[in-house]
Amino acid sequence: MDLLLISVFILAAIVAGLKIYTKLTLRTCKSQVCLVGKTAIVTGANCGIIGYETALDFAKRGAKVILACRNISKAQEARRKIIEETHNHKIFVRVIDLASFESVRAFAEEINKTEDRLDILVNNAGAVGLEHKRTVDGRPLLMQVNYFSSFLLTNLLLNLLKKSGPSRIVNVSSLGASMGSKLDVNNIDNFVPRFNDDYYHSKLCNVLFTIELAKKLQGTSVTTYSLHPGFVETEIFHNFHGIMKVLFMIIVKLFSMTCEEGAQTNIYCSVTQGIEKYSGEHFDHCRKVDRYKNATDPDLAKNLWKKSEELVGLTPEENPF
Ligand SMILES: NC(=O)c1ccc[n+]([C@@H]2O[C@H](COP(=O)([O-])OP(=O)(O)OC[C@H]3O[C@@H](n4cnc5c(N)ncnc54)[C@H](OP(=O)(O)O)[C@@H]3O)[C@@H](O)[C@H]2O)c1
Ligand SMILES: *[C@@H]1O[C@H](CO)[C@@H](O)[C@H](O)[C@H]1NC(C)=O
Ligand SMILES: *[C@@H]1O[C@H](CO)[C@@H](O)[C@H](O)[C@H]1NC(C)=O
Ligand SMILES: *[C@@H]1O[C@H](CO)[C@@H](O)[C@H](O)[C@H]1NC(C)=O
Ligand SMILES: *[C@@H]1O[C@H](CO)[C@@H](O)[C@H](O)[C@H]1NC(C)=O
Repeated sequence: MDLLLISVFILAAIVAGLKIYTKLTLRTCKSQVCLVGKTAIVTGANCGIIGYETALDFAKRGAKVILACRNISKAQEARRKIIEETHNHKIFVRVIDLASFESVRAFAEEINKTEDRLDILVNNAGAVGLEHKRTVDGRPLLMQVNYFSSFLLTNLLLNLLKKSGPSRIVNVSSLGASMGSKLDVNNIDNFVPRFNDDYYHSKLCNVLFTIELAKKLQGTSVTTYSLHPGFVETEIFHNFHGIMKVLFMIIVKLFSMTCEEGAQTNIYCSVTQGIEKYSGEHFDHCRKVDRYKNATDPDLAKNLWKKSEELVGLTPEENPF
């Protein structure tokens, strides 16, 4: 009985300690930058998640914000709430399904036609625990949603971003990028059997692409950053089942921040002045951190870029470089 009590006490102390640690190490974006006259696109900006809080912050700063979502009804609800809270009416919903390159191309074409500028692109949408299925384009579903489609989207919007410089591309990656087995570029079009490796790989690709993009963008006024938002209780773990779901939920509960807190590094990378010199670098807790060891190989970044061009079928006309 005593032992049980002591165990419970120790466990409670650990949980409390982690909670306090999370709160103490939390850093928020302090930038007061005003975004009036600027246009931002946030993918996956539905209600209640990291992307929504990012879009809400941009709206508060006066930006025109385009919520790039696949579920119209959820996105309309997000738009309604943002307008209600900020009284900024320049909030728009545009459909994008990252599981389809055709949808990505249609979205980019529409933006290219209707917008005369684009200052911030946040590639935030992402998923985990999807079944091993191929998309209509023949790519592994999770890789396409988390990486290939953002690669394509970024390339298609780059001329508009360049024209509007100084502009930014922010890629939401994850600490998960540092886990998983070794990434083999020749194998990125195949399913990985190890649990959750596809997610880790897709998130490592986000980091590697940011590195290569920054290189390609040298000498322009477009900068790019990748980041880990922290552990945030969102809908992202809903695709896991059974013990895995329980495990992930425990981890998230222990370290969890609110979505608003989880959006801070997105916002920091999008608006903070003076970080342009860190283009291509990786961020966590609103500061630049060392790149994951896995992401330090420049050849890997370069080869991944080439392979990605091929796998998304980027045409010479679409290629901004
Ligand atoms: N939460 C964490 O602890 C954590 C940790 C590290 C990194 N991250 C990263 O943070 C980002 C945001 O994640 P979150 O936690 O906010 O996840 P979330 O609650 O699951 O939100 C993901 C967003 O992506 C959208 N999305 C998913 N599949 C899509 C598709 N095929 N086409 C268009 N949109 C699609 C979702 O739209 P629907 O509503 O239509 O599904 C949703 O708006 C992700 O890139 C994730 O990898 C999160
Ligand atoms: C969109 O979200 C709503 C509300 O969560 C859900 O009822 C609906 O099935 C979703 N639609 C699609 C096409 O996924
Ligand atoms: C991230 O950045 C690279 C270049 O910076 C871009 O091509 C890629 O599509 C972006 N998105 C993701 C999710 O990697
Ligand atoms: C965007 O529009 C310009 C002309 O306004 C055109 O030259 C360019 O090819 C278009 N790009 C895309 C990706 O649609
Ligand atoms: C990351 O690096 C570690 C240590 O070098 C390695 O064991 C692991 O396979 C790598 N993971 C990926 C995804 O490359």
